[in-house]
Amino acid sequence: MRILGIESSCDDAAAAIIETDRAGVAMVRASAAANQDDIHRAYGGIVPELASRNHVITIQPVVERTLAAAGCKLGDLDGIAVTRGPGLVGSLLVGLMYAKGLAQATGLPLAGVNHIEGHLLAPLLEHEVAMPYLALVVSGGHTALFMVEDFGSYRRLGSTRDDAAGEAFDKVAKLMGLGYPGGKIIDDLARSGNPRRVKIPRARVKGAPLDFSFSGVKTAVATLLRSEAGVTLSHADLAASFQEAVVEMLVRPTLAAAREVNADTIALTGGVAANSRLRECLAADAAADGRRMVAPSFKYCTDNAAMIALAGSHRLLRGERDALSIDAAANLAL
Ligand code: KG4
Ligand code: ZN
Repeated sequence: MRILGIESSCDDAAAAIIETDRAGVAMVRASAAANQDDIHRAYGGIVPELASRNHVITIQPVVERTLAAAGCKLGDLDGIAVTRGPGLVGSLLVGLMYAKGLAQATGLPLAGVNHIEGHLLAPLLEHEVAMPYLALVVSGGHTALFMVEDFGSYRRLGSTRDDAAGEAFDKVAKLMGLGYPGGKIIDDLARSGNPRRVKIPRARVKGAPLDFSFSGVKTAVATLLRSEAGVTLSHADLAASFQEAVVEMLVRPTLAAAREVNADTIALTGGVAANSRLRECLAADAAADGRRMVAPSFKYCTDNAAMIALAGSHRLLRGERDALSIDAAANLAL
């Protein structure tokens, strides 16, 4: 099955073509994205209206570029998969309407995909992972632990009570005047800092050991920067100390969940999965516990259309398809 995937839930307009065999194993033929970091940088965060307006301009060229890179035409496809939520509604609508137009014109079956399901399955694009597996999804919009029981069958074990981990990275980078998006900048800066130099409190959610909370770390950094000590503080030390706190607050519930469900494999996925310290710590702690950690390479950690094509191909393989009347759903639940 050769599937075109389209993703536009946030600030990336992406397309990919994957081929899935009968066993459901996927091979990525092409994957491309139009990145908008340069547009949103001036605002220190994503401006939804600018994101959707730019998707309108870039979506068709990105799809055409992807088809050309895969060496195929629309007539060579077996289906179209598109993100229908969760995300920014204006952004979602651009990809969804474009996909519906293609489905209408070609008669190809359409599969609407939950963006989180895409992130949960992304590790399968490059690794052989037996199900069930535990997945930690950490991105700019989401932080949650899911048991991936089968394609289409996911059980949420825990999630953030407030900010997403990526949101905390971005907000702290903004507070420190480091630029946008903040995750990679903090990751790079932290390499030359001392993670034990600044005291950052680690939050635990009372009575819910598999849940997360990141608003406290953000407030701690803001308070520190406003204080007298904040004036002379090394930014590298602060970045390293903040990152260490976030990593610990992600790793502890993940290991607790792995023990609770006795998961052999822990998949780390979503934009924050690109964080070098998180990859290092989770891999080490998982190994010490007799478990394996897998994480996609950077291009499949952040938003991409290959993961959407993969999730959609399995819906189509199960005989499911969506009517052209499906709508975007900003708060779509999994
Ligand atoms: O998955 P993604 O591309 O978009 C969402 O669905 O949110 O994730 C983007 C997030 C941003 O918050 C960004 O700062 C964060 O991933 N990120 C990182 C790193 N690279 C990207 N966070 C920490 N360390 C990184 N190296
Ligand atoms: Zn995402």
